[in-house]
Amino acid sequence: MKDYKFTRNWFEKHIPDWEKTLSGLRNKKINVLDIGVFEGRATVWILDELFQHPDSQLIAIDPFENTFEGIFATNENKETYYRNLRESGKENQVKTVGDMNYFDALTKLNHEKKEKFDFIHVDGSHSACHVLSNAVLSWNLLKEGGIMILDDYEWDLFEEEYNNPRIAINSFLQSYQSQIEIIYKHFQVAIKKEIKKVSRIPRDDKTVD
Ligand SMILES: C[S@@+](CC[C@H](N)C(=O)[O-])C[C@H]1O[C@@H](n2cnc3c(N)ncnc32)[C@H](O)[C@@H]1O
Repeated sequence: MKDYKFTRNWFEKHIPDWEKTLSGLRNKKINVLDIGVFEGRATVWILDELFQHPDSQLIAIDPFENTFEGIFATNENKETYYRNLRESGKENQVKTVGDMNYFDALTKLNHEKKEKFDFIHVDGSHSACHVLSNAVLSWNLLKEGGIMILDDYEWDLFEEEYNNPRIAINSFLQSYQSQIEIIYKHFQVAIKKEIKKVSRIPRDDKTVD
């Protein structure tokens, strides 16, 4: 029995959905991207449950610093995260980007073009503008057939509706619907990357682009 420590328990209610959605990845060699790790509750679930293959790799992104919205990891949470990773016994399969915010980290991964992921968990900043850019930048890093889970769809603690995650996730789902199959949509939204055929209406007029 592993001696994990957590001060918050946002993740556990999602475990039944995660088990159903992700169990197919369990014995494969997979690449996972986890954005917004806090004390690593979801991260260690991934390591314990999905990382049966010794060569599976996880990249974790969290700046572990104050953000304007008030949901942030302190130095103490950061220490707990690293402690939990050690406790998992799989810390050597994890690379933590703990000194960059998601935008820089995802831009770098996109630019390097080294890695594509089988599963991406988006649970960083809750501000709509960040949720949207997180989704767009990481979607490009997801393999075809890969799964993305976006957290906080129903989180509504910003007074202005336009700041809450729902508007960002809806915009993303609409704009990328030619590549998305929705698996479920409640507090979290799980989607699969499935590129569909795009049909264009034929036009006779040669002057139209
Ligand atoms: C709700 S917590 C994540 C919970 C975690 N996934 C778990 O399983 O317990 C949100 C996390 O997002 C991080 N975060 C906030 N702004 C971020 C940003 N711009 N880029 C990446 N992570 C960010 C915070 O530091 C915090 O650790």
